[in-house]
Amino acid sequence: MEKTPGKTGFSRRAFLKGSSAAAAATALATAPDVAEAHQVGTAVLAGPTVIVLTVNGKDHKVNVEPRTTLLEVLRYQLDLTGAKPVSGDGSSGASTVLVDGKPMMASTLLAVAVRGKKIETVEGRGGEKTPDAVQKAFVQYDAQQCGFCTPGFVVATRAFLDKNPKATEADIRGGLNGNICRCGTYANVIQAAIAVAKGGGNG
Ligand code: FES
Repeated sequence: MEKTPGKTGFSRRAFLKGSSAAAAATALATAPDVAEAHQVGTAVLAGPTVIVLTVNGKDHKVNVEPRTTLLEVLRYQLDLTGAKPVSGDGSSGASTVLVDGKPMMASTLLAVAVRGKKIETVEGRGGEKTPDAVQKAFVQYDAQQCGFCTPGFVVATRAFLDKNPKATEADIRGGLNGNICRCGTYANVIQAAIAVAKGGGNG
């Protein structure tokens, strides 16, 4: 039962309703990606919805719910399994992809929030037959053991060297510190990245 308003004319329940709405509005206003997801959410909350994602230069129609992550779409709908589910919160760096050229963790991005953006995965960078300079260097310097972290490291290294083509070893160590290798292959990863930087960072 609604409490009788006090001298101020506001009931406690009415105040709380108002505060929640204001807090939600503030959160949406200050987080564009979340706001976008919620906008879409009003249309998709009843069930899955088809959206278009641009991945490795191609548009893909995918079926998502508001809670679906980019990583889930990549792995389970597009069969792009380079980005890995490891930490789930982005702390391992294993799900690193490029979004509009910036390294981001696919495990922490909602698929609906990256509509209209250019997404690039490790599969979009050369491959077995036409490896790019980073991929070649990782092979040459034996920069992997189990390989689970490797796609994330390759994408992060590529993004870092694109931005810092003449990076020093110290720069590279700092630039790649968001990626974790449980096998401890860091020395080889750093050597591979240094080799690419010495070659001008391109390829
Ligand atoms: S090579 Fe195994 S986690 Fe990095």
